[in-house]
Amino acid sequence: MNILGSHILSVQQFDRANIESLFQVADTMRPYARREKMTTVLQGAILGSLFFEPSTRTRVSFGCAFNLLGGEVRETVGIESSSLTKGESLYDTARVLSGYSDLIVMRHPQPGSVAEFASASRVPVVNGGDGANEHPSQALLDLFTMQQEMAGKSRGIDNLRIAMVGDLKHGRTVHSLSQLLCLYRNISFVFVSPKALAMPEEIVDRLMAAGHTVVETEDLAVGIANVDIIYQTRIQEERFASKEEANQYRGRFRINQYAYSQFCQPSTVIMHPLPRDSRADANELDNDLNDNPNLAIFRQTDNGVLVRMAIFASILGVGKEVDRYARPISWKNVRKG
Ligand code: CP
Repeated sequence: MNILGSHILSVQQFDRANIESLFQVADTMRPYARREKMTTVLQGAILGSLFFEPSTRTRVSFGCAFNLLGGEVRETVGIESSSLTKGESLYDTARVLSGYSDLIVMRHPQPGSVAEFASASRVPVVNGGDGANEHPSQALLDLFTMQQEMAGKSRGIDNLRIAMVGDLKHGRTVHSLSQLLCLYRNISFVFVSPKALAMPEEIVDRLMAAGHTVVETEDLAVGIANVDIIYQTRIQEERFASKEEANQYRGRFRINQYAYSQFCQPSTVIMHPLPRDSRADANELDNDLNDNPNLAIFRQTDNGVLVRMAIFASILGVGKEVDRYARPISWKNVRKG
């Protein structure tokens, strides 16, 4: 599938060939993301950014990505600041806002809501997370990061061994990522979660039907012992009926430097979609890992800008035009790293 003019609603839209093309475009975005030069390729275009659930990195990195391509961003943050609270439908909201924008990114708490919105939109819509369902751009940036991390070890994604840890029932990032990895060969998945927060059965069935290995365990030490990548996740408190119910699971699978040294192979890469819950009763990924060179969490967030720039450029048909509109920056680049 060529994503020119398309909505991006699910990872199931992708195959290996279009992921490769997208990642080639993402690679060309590095000098712009590092502010070594700028481009005006999307000058005059407007991104409608609708976030009806809290977000730090998805909202801001999508906005930065559009700005870095020369476009403008108009944000609506929180259902309470939109007319959805007055009973306006997703259909009407989509009809109206797609008249103001060239492309829309939307996050909403209801599974399926972004697809419903997209069906009424006159411009492409990118799913920034729909409840516990999917988060396709996160899965793409995670895969991009995994390729980069594994390339550093002279490995690819085929034959990867990955442990996904935490709230696998409600975590939309693991739902999307596991299904995207399905496109590769011979993946060994280890799902570490309490039984009540296990990966949905239909996803496990899909992975196994595609020929991958799935092991499910509640034993963290066993689960992370023999893998290339640990993908830790947060207990998704906002998806539980009450905070007390979420508290039963909080802090159950903590990874810190001691656990890493005791149980993991020394080259194991540590990933997390973030936010990590750093409160004392959760602390699923300890700050004492911050200097561990295999902690890839901030490489993931940096890569998010590259991949989101590539998504926009590809949807709007300028993936190969970015350099043609490049010019030097006019300020002193004082960034460190
Ligand atoms: N990973 C992710 O979706 O983070 P935010 O909720 O901060 O956007």
